Amino acid sequence: MKYLIHIIAAARPNFVKIAPLWHALKKKDWATPVIVHTGQHYDVNMSDAFFKELELPPPDIHLGVGSGTHAEQTSQVMVSYEKALIEQRPDMVIVVGDVNSTIACALVASKAFYQNKQRPIIAHLEAGLRSFDRTMPEEINRLVTDVLADILWTPSPDGDENLLKEGIPKEKIVRVGNIMIDSLEMMREKIESPSLYKDAGYERGAYGVVTLHRPANVDDQETLENLCEALVKISDKTPLVFPVHPRTQKNLEKTGLINTINGKERLSLLEPLSYPQFMNLVFNCSFVITDSGGIQEETTYLNIPCLTLRPNTERPITVEQGTNQLIKIENLEDQINNILVGSVSKSSAPELWDGQTAGRVVTSIKEILINSNLTSDKADG
Ligand code: UD1
Repeated sequence: MKYLIHIIAAARPNFVKIAPLWHALKKKDWATPVIVHTGQHYDVNMSDAFFKELELPPPDIHLGVGSGTHAEQTSQVMVSYEKALIEQRPDMVIVVGDVNSTIACALVASKAFYQNKQRPIIAHLEAGLRSFDRTMPEEINRLVTDVLADILWTPSPDGDENLLKEGIPKEKIVRVGNIMIDSLEMMREKIESPSLYKDAGYERGAYGVVTLHRPANVDDQETLENLCEALVKISDKTPLVFPVHPRTQKNLEKTGLINTINGKERLSLLEPLSYPQFMNLVFNCSFVITDSGGIQEETTYLNIPCLTLRPNTERPITVEQGTNQLIKIENLEDQINNILVGSVSKSSAPELWDGQTAGRVVTSIKEILINSNLTSDKADG
């Protein structure tokens, strides 16, 4: 018997997470993995370039949803995905991360009762992460997705603890490790080979990488202005390279703040980069300033200082065990000075962040699909 497995991907970080899993499942004669792209990210360099570089085939199903308010985006994914789900009747739906499409597809799958067949098993990859900050849309997406999922694959022990505290039965929780590290190792050769940092005129270990896209940082004009000023000042001390996310680009243009940071010799603004190009810059830099989730993890694994411009993180292990520090804009410059004089502690990679997560997920999938207890449980829903 071949099991039909929908793998949902929507936004840039999702593509990185699904790639090792798709490659691992594709080799199994019992699985038909089907990539469902919701279309949340649609620019060539936010989407197609990632599929190409990660050696993924074009999506089997493309919902073409695009941008909108939270309600618009979430509901449009739901309406479009419901049609695809009913038509295909997958045995399992895998959602990843914490974006609007994650919650939308989990919700659709949780209510899809096929005629003469139970609804699909819902699996969440990167379950259990909590910032405990419900002003973040991603936190709402995480909480709801984890309530709906039948199987919760966590990256680290704090994920298991959060889920247990929320009353998720322990037999639904499987710690598999961090799939982002699989992607990094899978792509290491490509990441190490291009010399983007050299071509862009940087010296190894002598520049910082900046990424910013969280609404809390880039949607508020005053915050964005403070950030731009801080970056300009830091670039006087050390060169910065800043691939700009579309949300950030739009807001920089709308507010005119683009003029504050554009054209500075030591502050390079770039278009969003492909995965190996971006990771090449990270591999060779001396620090990262970010508000991304995945980059907090990648820098911990790579032992590169990471300053996260957020009041909290859903990835506390990167602070406790890794190189990550949560920081306010006003303290950014001082912390950069500390990094430049070398007074920053180093990290060790958390357990199961070893490039073998996809294999553990595949083993778990096989067990779940064969395990009839879970299939009969889910009919109760
Ligand atoms: C989304 C996720 C966030 C994730 C991020 C990674 C949610 C709630 N947020 O945020 O968790 O960290 O992706 O990048 O799901 N846009 C383009 N081209 C694109 C994609 C987006 O121009 O290819 C524009 C949209 O028009 C929109 C803005 O960027 O105005 C934001 O896009 P959206 O997908 O809504 O949220 P992100 O900020 O990317």
